[in-house]
Amino acid sequence: MPSVYIKTYGCQMNERDSEAVAAQLVAKGYSLAKSEATADVVLLNTCSVRDFAEQKAINKMQNIVGTARSEKRDQIVGFMGCMAQSRGQELIDKLPDVDLVLGTQKFHRAAEYLDELLAGTRKKIVDVAAEEKSEATIREHLLNGSAKTSVSAFVSIMQGCNQHCTFCIVPATRGEERSRTIPDIVAECRELVARGVREIILLGQIVTSFGKRDYPGLDGKSGFVQLLDAVHELDGLDRIRFTSPHPKGYGDDLVEAYARLPKLCESAHIPLQSGSDRILKLMHRGYSREKFLGIVGKLRRAKPGIGITTDIIVGFPGETEEDFELTLSLCREVQFDNAYIFKYSPRRDTPAAEMPDQVPQTIREERNERLLNLVNEIAAKKYDAFIGRQVEILVEGPSKKNAARYTGRTRCNRIVLFDGSTRHQGQLMEVKIERTGSFTLYGDPAVVNL
Ligand code: SAH
Ligand code: F3S
Repeated sequence: MPSVYIKTYGCQMNERDSEAVAAQLVAKGYSLAKSEATADVVLLNTCSVRDFAEQKAINKMQNIVGTARSEKRDQIVGFMGCMAQSRGQELIDKLPDVDLVLGTQKFHRAAEYLDELLAGTRKKIVDVAAEEKSEATIREHLLNGSAKTSVSAFVSIMQGCNQHCTFCIVPATRGEERSRTIPDIVAECRELVARGVREIILLGQIVTSFGKRDYPGLDGKSGFVQLLDAVHELDGLDRIRFTSPHPKGYGDDLVEAYARLPKLCESAHIPLQSGSDRILKLMHRGYSREKFLGIVGKLRRAKPGIGITTDIIVGFPGETEEDFELTLSLCREVQFDNAYIFKYSPRRDTPAAEMPDQVPQTIREERNERLLNLVNEIAAKKYDAFIGRQVEILVEGPSKKNAARYTGRTRCNRIVLFDGSTRHQGQLMEVKIERTGSFTLYGDPAVVNL
């Protein structure tokens, strides 16, 4: 049976899609190869959010086909996901060795297309068309039998985004918002819990828009909060998280859900993008600086100790030094637990790419550096504040870097390393934090008598 190697770029949605494609191929008799060098099929699941991510996947593909050629190996190679969707046939024109280009609504056809390519009945396949109900076509999660159940699982609840932020390519690569139904999602979560999963992370490009059409407000609760309520009912589930929300989705119903639902972890990743109202408007974000600050305040009142992280873009077209300083001052005011900072990258067919006053690369880099210094300084202080505290962690398993160490996460989503063993795997346990590393806490379970 042919073997396949899948390499994933980009966000958790992509990781989730790769897992689903792998599960589909294994179910059809494929095996999973340990490396691209030994695989009959190599698929790159791509990201388009910034140019850098696209270039990485293109370079990787050039390497793979170059090596296969020089070693005279027959290998089927393909791009799937976001860059496949946005570039389509152009990828084969550029890299003629590529056999398959599979768009974001076509993952469920992967096995069928690979069978045809391997059998030689078709030579090249490009399929990036839209597909009705594609959000429900793939849900098989865990590799049948072969993979050990992890304690934490991603569940895709919706796809696409209608917000059309002027810098963002996602609405083009992922299409219009489509939500799964609540019973369908709950059934998948129930099955995962039955297999030993204790934490579920609900995924989507803009999860707070979940079910806007099919689940209109009920008792003041949005479709998304109705979904949280339904998932929360599951016995055996300990923790619920979600990503990514949009600030406009933080109505009182969601804030109140944090206070009301004990399984909903006190952590929130709320993309800010800019601290300047003028830039937020140009970005078409749909909220103001004041509104954002209001949300953070409400969340912290509802759940003291909530971990708040964000995404910020520096060097958006037209961003002046004053605008940038407003972002710095907002970060000082909010004191984010962490922030992911991105240098603006013009994306094809997005309005921002055509805007006047594009910011020179050197200034984007300089602002990136200044903001990173501030964010890291605040984050380090926040990490240090954990020293001496006792926290609950959910243990995920041995650390990748050092197998004698185990890793878990606090409810506020911080990674904790401790000297553990298999008996800790999948457990909720208390540890005392002894010291900090870079974006890591080191804990000691012994001191709390486990
Ligand atoms: N809501 C989506 C956003 C995806 S993009 C999600 O999190 O799934 C993730 C982050 O990349 C965005 O929040 C934004 O900060 C950044 N980003 C998106 N487009 C960008 C661009 N053109 N240039 C630089 N950063 C960008
Ligand atoms: Fe992109 Fe804005 Fe949607 S960042 S994913 S268009 S909320």
